Amino acid sequence: MNITYKNTLTVEDYCRLRKAVKWYDIPENIIKQALEKSDYIVSAVSDGETIGMARLMTDGTQILIMDVAVHPDFQGRGVGKGLIENIKTHIEKTYKQMLVSLTTDEKNVDFYEKLGFNKIVGMRIWHGI
Ligand SMILES: CC(C)(COP(=O)(O)OP(=O)(O)OC[C@H]1O[C@@H](n2cnc3c(N)ncnc32)[C@H](O)[C@@H]1OP(=O)(O)O)[C@@H](O)C(=O)NCCC(=O)NCCS
Repeated sequence: MNITYKNTLTVEDYCRLRKAVKWYDIPENIIKQALEKSDYIVSAVSDGETIGMARLMTDGTQILIMDVAVHPDFQGRGVGKGLIENIKTHIEKTYKQMLVSLTTDEKNVDFYEKLGFNKIVGMRIWHGI
C-alpha cells in the first residue's frame, strides 16, 4: 500500500473518518473551526482516498495531539504509526522542550507506548452536557 502524508484535511474527510471509527457526531461548522484553529494537521492518503488523520493544537506552552484515527479498512498496516511519527517529527523540528499529551482509551495504550508515549494515571475528566 502506497501512502502519502499530507498537511491538508477537508471537513468532509474529517467527518467521514470520524464516523468510520464511531466517534460521536460534531456539527460541521464546529469541525471547520477546529481544523482552522489547528496548529498542525496530517492526513494519510492512499490511491487518492484519505484513510487517516491526526492534528495538534498548542498554546505555546504545551501540545495536545488530537483526532488520531485510521479508517477501519486500513488499520493494522502502519498508518497510525506513520501519522504519529509525522507529528513527532514536526514537533521536534518546530518546538523546544514541551509537554506533549493526548487522551486515549485503554485499548490504545500499547499503540502509544510503542511510539514512545508514557501512560500517566490520575487524569480527571469531566463529561460536559
Ligand atoms: C489506534 C489507531 C490510530 C492505530 O492505527 P493503526 O494504523 O491501526 O496502527 P498501526 O498499524 O500503525 O500500528 C502500529 C503498531 O501499534 C500496534 N497497535 C496498533 N493498534 C494497537 C492497539 N489497539 N493495541 C496494541 N497495539 C496496537 C500495531 O500492532 C503496530 O505494532 P508494530 O509496530 O510492532 O507492528 C487505529 O486503530 C484507530 O484509528 N482506532 C480508532 C480510533 C481511535 O481509537 N483513535 C485513537 C484516539 S486517541
